[in-house]
Amino acid sequence: MSAQTSPLADAYPHRHLLGIEGLQPHEILALLDRAESAVEISRQVEKKKAVLRGRTQINLFFEASTRTQSSFEIAGKRLGADVMNMSVSSSSVKKGETLIDTAATLNAMHPDIIVVRHHAAGAVHLLAQKVGCSVINAGDGAHEHPTQALLDALTIRRHKGKIARLTVAICGDILHSRVARSNIILLNALGARVKVVAPSTLLPNGIRQMGVEVCATMREGLADADIVMMLRLQRERMAGAFIPSVREYFRYYGLDAEKLSAARPDALVMHPGPMNRGVEIDPEIADGPQSLIREQVEMGVAVRMAVLEALSAHLPNR
Ligand code: CP
Repeated sequence: MSAQTSPLADAYPHRHLLGIEGLQPHEILALLDRAESAVEISRQVEKKKAVLRGRTQINLFFEASTRTQSSFEIAGKRLGADVMNMSVSSSSVKKGETLIDTAATLNAMHPDIIVVRHHAAGAVHLLAQKVGCSVINAGDGAHEHPTQALLDALTIRRHKGKIARLTVAICGDILHSRVARSNIILLNALGARVKVVAPSTLLPNGIRQMGVEVCATMREGLADADIVMMLRLQRERMAGAFIPSVREYFRYYGLDAEKLSAARPDALVMHPGPMNRGVEIDPEIADGPQSLIREQVEMGVAVRMAVLEALSAHLPNR
């Protein structure tokens, strides 16, 4: 038997969340609206709901995570799911088991939702074809990180009251960033103006075709910016020299008070984390009055509750 219908299920008619690409603006907005309610639930003393009661959620992380894994665990538990965190470092993946065999093994245990992070772009889409349950992409290589873009949008909308016609400057290691890619797709879908700022070595081919303005300097990129979104320099994904030195990088692309003064006076600063203080952002800015970085973490739980609830409506009832 299949799933119940509800306004959220009607607004988000998908079994999985594999990326922002392909989502309609009204589907994104339905998730953000639902996340607003989840913020309120999370701020109450009594946080437990029964939306996922009896359901099993597996968090399968092949890459390190603090924010995404813990917030998916908290979100699942707040909705009543039984949540299992699968530690890849102590699993049979270490003995050479393939992603597909791991997926088939977990599928045999009848989970309802699998949340996956993997170092290879496309791995989560492949896994979704091999299992019978719902799959959520928690970050696949440099491809997509859809719940990060949703939580960023929620954070922006709560402060600016809208996304459309805002100017958002995304700065730093665009080349290796799934966060940048998902944010560019989402912000364009909702009508924002998106600028990217990076040295040419940290820009992917074809970036202009994604509907962004490309800027080589922070001064140019931050002009008129309502939101300044900094990205981590992903040195673990760099084979070879992409920047002359960290010191040079901070000098030209690290966000400090002087560079931030090029943005609008009410500009807000974001960073998906983990942050490298003194590499892409000055600690005084990260902890300063314009920073939304801690609030992004709170919104992460709310958005993941909304996504889990949206998918739960499409789970089979037996
Ligand atoms: N922003 C983000 O994905 O952080 P984690 O790697 O800690 O999950």
